[in-house]
Amino acid sequence: MTEHAAPVPTHQPRRVSARIGSIAESATLAVDAKAKSLKAAGRPVIGFGAGEPDFPTPDYIVEAAARAVLDPVNHRYSPAAGLPVLREAVAAKTLRDSGYEVAPGQVLITNGGKQAVYQAFATLLDPGDEVLLPAPYWTTYPEAIRLAGGVPVEVFAGEDQGYRVTVEQLEAARTPRTKVVLFVSPSNPTGAVYTPEETEQVGRWALEHGIWVITDEIYEHLVYDGAVATSIVRAVPELADTTVVLNGVAKTYAMTGWRVGWMVGPADVIKAATNLQSHLSSNVANVSQRAAVAALTGDLSAVDAMRSAFDRRRRTMVRMLAEIDGVEIPVPQGAFYAYPSVKGVLGRTIRGVTPTTSAELAALILDQAEVAVVPGEAFGPSGYLRLSYALGDDDLVEGVRRIQALLADAD
Ligand SMILES: Cc1ncc(COP(=O)(O)O)c(C=O)c1O
Repeated sequence: MTEHAAPVPTHQPRRVSARIGSIAESATLAVDAKAKSLKAAGRPVIGFGAGEPDFPTPDYIVEAAARAVLDPVNHRYSPAAGLPVLREAVAAKTLRDSGYEVAPGQVLITNGGKQAVYQAFATLLDPGDEVLLPAPYWTTYPEAIRLAGGVPVEVFAGEDQGYRVTVEQLEAARTPRTKVVLFVSPSNPTGAVYTPEETEQVGRWALEHGIWVITDEIYEHLVYDGAVATSIVRAVPELADTTVVLNGVAKTYAMTGWRVGWMVGPADVIKAATNLQSHLSSNVANVSQRAAVAALTGDLSAVDAMRSAFDRRRRTMVRMLAEIDGVEIPVPQGAFYAYPSVKGVLGRTIRGVTPTTSAELAALILDQAEVAVVPGEAFGPSGYLRLSYALGDDDLVEGVRRIQALLADAD
């Protein structure tokens, strides 16, 4: 028997793959977790980080779930694409709210809107395909695009243009590799809502250049001041064959913890995404799906009540933020976020600290005012803060008052 020397390893495998290792932690969840842990430690922290309604899920939805949990039919695997009754309800709701007529087979029920976002990009993108990503953007989008092998191409719209990109900006960013444009109205993080005319312009431009549209309509019912969220497929019906609509029950029905979202699109794309989901996660929890059926087949009175509370808080928050020297804030018309520019505060000394980025300012606000806000870096360029107004009125006023008092000390 001959003895062999152990082979000398020439390559040390990574513990975590480069692809997954490059994903950043969700900054919004991180801020929220930090605020909650400081609160648990007894600090009187007020959190403006959360991206969820502070209301409980309406009773009639919870009751439908309670009935479902007792029925053994819901204790088993069900079709990966979703319960037929829920796919039908989503199709009916999509016609009602988006003016887009689809068959139930064009609907895929996902584990929250987040899974719909991932699967939409994974299904449409080949390596190197570019996605025009209007910025400021929700923090999950660029990660989802990169994970799918795509290249996010940021198109920035600042406060001077109400955080809404123009067709001219999109056209300037278009290349032969552009496959998809992302369209989100109302927007997280800015609360911007595109007018029907602007929506149509983006849609016509995409159609003209054969660019797919992924549109995230999750905040469609949270609009104020008479603003209307116009579905891009309603504005340009010819886009139906090259558009994927993303949505979910989380924001409209205060159901963030139930994890039900969906993708709606051309049958071949939905079939391909269903194949992916069938290996990834299979069906969404049946009890949650039954709750979503109750939500979607009911009326919108619960969201009407939430919307008026959000509207009141929005006006209070915007008024108080606008009073701060160095803060600029376009009035948000949708979702439940205010997105002030704080560029006029950066570089000034506040209680011995001179923040030069919004991340440093957010850290100072947490440290000195015990208020949690999300820095603009989570959504694109520095210079902004995101504050959710989905919290009680008293906390909201107290939290913004603390920020006012802190920033009043800026030299
Ligand atoms: C713009 C946008 N899309 C999608 C989602 C996903 O929501 P969920 O996964 O809770 O349904 C969120 C949540 O914050 C969001 O802000």
